[in-house]
Amino acid sequence: MLRNKTVRVRAYVELTTVQVQKKAPSQTVRITGYHKDHFMKDNLTRPLHLVAVSGGMQRPSKAAALTGHLLELIVDALQCEQHMIELGLLAPQLAGAVSRSQLPDAAERALAAVEQADALVVTTPVYRGSYTGLFKHFFDFVHQDALIDKPVLLAAVGGSERHALIIDHQLRPLFSFFQARTLPLGVYATDKDFVDYRLQDDALMQRAALAVKRALPFFELTRGAA
Ligand SMILES: Cc1cc2nc3c(=O)[nH]c(=O)nc-3n(C[C@H](O)[C@H](O)[C@H](O)COP(=O)(O)O)c2cc1C
Repeated sequence: MLRNKTVRVRAYVELTTVQVQKKAPSQTVRITGYHKDHFMKDNLTRPLHLVAVSGGMQRPSKAAALTGHLLELIVDALQCEQHMIELGLLAPQLAGAVSRSQLPDAAERALAAVEQADALVVTTPVYRGSYTGLFKHFFDFVHQDALIDKPVLLAAVGGSERHALIIDHQLRPLFSFFQARTLPLGVYATDKDFVDYRLQDDALMQRAALAVKRALPFFELTRGAA
């Protein structure tokens, strides 16, 4: 145990620079300071069990696109088993249930995945100044103790900047109820940051990269503690 701790500290010291090459050259985003091989080379840790929830109701969905981008950045830096839940796909099943026992298997599996995750990425479109009703309905079914101390990276997409504070005024209080560890830096995007449901805005991509970089040590701690 003591040896493991020693090696882990060394792994942090030996950090290198990795380049996350996005699809087009203009979309290159650098995350410095992490390389997943450093954390896995001594088999000290198992893969991070990362679950993302996208609250997008439509397909395609900008919320889903942002969620996918964040997952991609995390997976490039850490060994992960990732799972993405799109609430729009579960909408008919979720909306018809008022108790968890009424939920069909697919919705129950999605809830179990969230509850058993090491870490979460949650993204919602802004609807009427807040997360969507179905996003709240989904998390109303999550056990109130299931997210205690879980790191949660918060993200949202709105039609404009007007409701950017959804992250701090709506999402953060919801996950504070769960006693989750909401990460300090969230990611807010607007419709104009996307072309054909792909992130295009450089500032947004820098923000996403920074949010993920800041999240990685918290994800590492969670994985190491399990
Ligand atoms: C019912 C509804 C309500 C919305 N309310 C807001 C809002 O209050 N503020 C805002 O900035 N955008 C609002 N929007 C715009 C969406 O948040 C935005 O287009 C978002 O990118 C949609 O994400 P999606 O592609 O994942 O569905 C609303 C859209 C809909 C359909």
